[in-house]
Amino acid sequence: MFTKKALILAFLSLSLSASAAPAADADCTLTQTVTARSSATSAVFANTGNGKNKGGNAGGNAGANAAGKAGANAGGKGAANAGGNAGNTGNAGNTGNNNNSTGAAAAASGNNNNNNGGNSGDLQSSLTLDSSLIQTGFQQDGQAAGSDAGQVASVTSDNNFINYCATTNLPLTNGTQIKTGSCNAAPMGMIAATTAMPSSKFVSPKNLDTIQANTNFTVQMAINNLNTGFFVNPNTNYFAAPQFTDSSGLVQGHSHVVIEAIDSLQSTSVTDPTKFNFFKGFNAAAQNGVLSAAVAGGLPAGVYKMSSINSAANHQPVLVAVAQHGSLDDAVYFTVTDNGQAANNGNAGNNGNAGNNGNVLLLARVQLQAQVGLRVRQLQAQARAPRRASVGSGSERASPCHDGCPLLLTRPA
Ligand SMILES: *[C@@H]1O[C@H](CO)[C@@H](O)[C@H](O)[C@H]1NC(C)=O
Ligand SMILES: *[C@@H]1O[C@H](CO)[C@@H](O)[C@H](O)[C@H]1NC(C)=O
Ligand SMILES: *[C@@H]1O[C@H](CO)[C@@H](O)[C@H](O)[C@H]1NC(C)=O
Ligand SMILES: *[C@@H]1O[C@H](CO)[C@@H](O)[C@H](O)[C@H]1NC(C)=O
Repeated sequence: MFTKKALILAFLSLSLSASAAPAADADCTLTQTVTARSSATSAVFANTGNGKNKGGNAGGNAGANAAGKAGANAGGKGAANAGGNAGNTGNAGNTGNNNNSTGAAAAASGNNNNNNGGNSGDLQSSLTLDSSLIQTGFQQDGQAAGSDAGQVASVTSDNNFINYCATTNLPLTNGTQIKTGSCNAAPMGMIAATTAMPSSKFVSPKNLDTIQANTNFTVQMAINNLNTGFFVNPNTNYFAAPQFTDSSGLVQGHSHVVIEAIDSLQSTSVTDPTKFNFFKGFNAAAQNGVLSAAVAGGLPAGVYKMSSINSAANHQPVLVAVAQHGSLDDAVYFTVTDNGQAANNGNAGNNGNAGNNGNVLLLARVQLQAQVGLRVRQLQAQARAPRRASVGSGSERASPCHDGCPLLLTRPA
């Protein structure tokens, strides 16, 4: 920052000294976007050296000088500028150029060179917002054309919010993961079309599975519409670039899996995102549409929620074209037990009887009888006969036991 200021000051003073007509020319004063935040003081560039180049320079010098190439310009005035200005590659805005041939003074000649050098720059190194990119939709707050009750006015901007972070007290996002929060001026970038919205589904463990505690397992997740295998350094480039898509419109990115312990499968407690048992980026590209991550050592016994975080290359969650869409991520719930068996495994057959309201008492009695040691086949025969008669149908539902009774009877709780 100080360096930049110093250079700017050097440039200003040298420009002034190089000027044949040092009176500041208001037409050539440009408001700059050199620094995203605090130093508005250094943001005014007066192209006072361009006394002879009034029209053209208005669009131009700003980019070059802002790009920090002031060192080159320091060469100074007149013909001396010719060499130094070669470095002004940042001058994307120089479409105006100097065509005022009436200005023949040495200073004008120097500035012409400046502009010529500058024109070799491109939009991606320019520090000015190109007028073709102004997002005019951001100028309205959304309240004019009908609004839902409670809808609030949007913040608006005439300049794409390029200096938005100056309105906050947050540090600028700088590619590190700033735990106390930050303000990011990087654009959201390329938004995936509705035909290319990512989604995913865990294949293993799948929803409601039970797996063995403290034992290696591999998470597998099928993924659609994400061009996987693209991830940048999360320590230096986190949220540090826009989302981008490939030539077919798919977001180029990667996914993550996070596993959090929860109270139970029926838990209604809101989870705490600062706490999780396992987190892993699926860094490799999907194989046959499936991403994999080994969980070395497995998990302790418990109940878990497992979620995906489908992301762009710079780790931001994927962005898609419309607000109303199915989930772009998956979440499943599974149980981890010491033996890898569901705790109520022996009673699983009871599920089949849930609908047989009228049979509850009978079933309880059958179980009791089984527990006091009556023979299994005899009980089944007794149970079926009256049931079928009472229901009065030969359908599957006529059986009180479905597939469950034999299991119950042979494996009493
Ligand atoms: C061209 O430069 C001359 C000399 O500085 C100046 O008097 C004149 O107004 C300029 N013309 C335009 C169109 O800027
Ligand atoms: C100078 O350049 C501007 C912008 O391109 C143009 O509109 C104008 O006609 C030019 N004038 C001369 C004298 O070439
Ligand atoms: C990034 O910003 C944070 C917060 O201002 C700061 O603590 C950290 O040193 C910065 N890191 C780099 C590499 O600029
Ligand atoms: C579990 O995974 C770890 C890490 O990959 C590996 O070193 C270990 O051999 C695995 N254990 C078994 C029993 O496969």
